[in-house]
Amino acid sequence: MAPNVRVIHHPLVQQKLTYLRDKHTHHREFRKLLSEITALMLFEITEDLPTVEIEIETPLEKTRSTILASHVVLVPVLRAGLGMLDGALDLIPNAKVGHIGLYRDEKTLEPVEYYAKFPSTLDQSVVILLDPMLATGGSSSAAVSILKKHRASQVKCLSLVSAPEGVKKMYQDHPDVPIYTASVDRQLNERGYIVPGLGDAGDRLYGTK
Ligand code: PRP
Ligand code: URA
Repeated sequence: MAPNVRVIHHPLVQQKLTYLRDKHTHHREFRKLLSEITALMLFEITEDLPTVEIEIETPLEKTRSTILASHVVLVPVLRAGLGMLDGALDLIPNAKVGHIGLYRDEKTLEPVEYYAKFPSTLDQSVVILLDPMLATGGSSSAAVSILKKHRASQVKCLSLVSAPEGVKKMYQDHPDVPIYTASVDRQLNERGYIVPGLGDAGDRLYGTK
């Protein structure tokens, strides 16, 4: 296993992944599951966020207690990453949100950028990139390059299903960026789809084809 990847084996994550993979799971349920699994995974990957103590008053007395020390910026990669945003915001409601628009050219499998917009605090924030699929790694690598161009320095990638090829590309291009995933699957097929995978995440999420 590449040193940049951590697989989240939690049983609740793995059960939701099973239902997401199932071709009989339709878009309404798929959307709900993607949101739920994102929240569970985000809980795991934020355990090392720095905290700071503040003074508060309980109904009984003054005490010191901790809150997050860093700003968090969530960045979904359009389209499919949008399906992870609500689950992530449920967990970190104060997070700011950036957006990156990329699609994969069907023939070359190269990512094509069409949109980018970020909060101005990107350089002082922990940035969490949300994209359910890490296939060739072209899209995530391009997304991280865009984030770095906008001065992001602390980036984590949350990807639901990954291919070994994508993990390797990310390690080559961005060895400083950890990848958190629920599974590193067997391989890519000849059309660049992850197998066994879960199909086209955007299509399954939005009912398009
Ligand atoms: C999917 C997925 C990733 C990308 C992964 O997006 O959401 O962004 O493919 O593939 P890669 O690792 O080989 O780059 P897609 O291009 O299908 O766009 P969509 O989300 O708008 O449908
Ligand atoms: N994009 C997807 O949505 N699914 C894959 O398997 C590969 C890229």
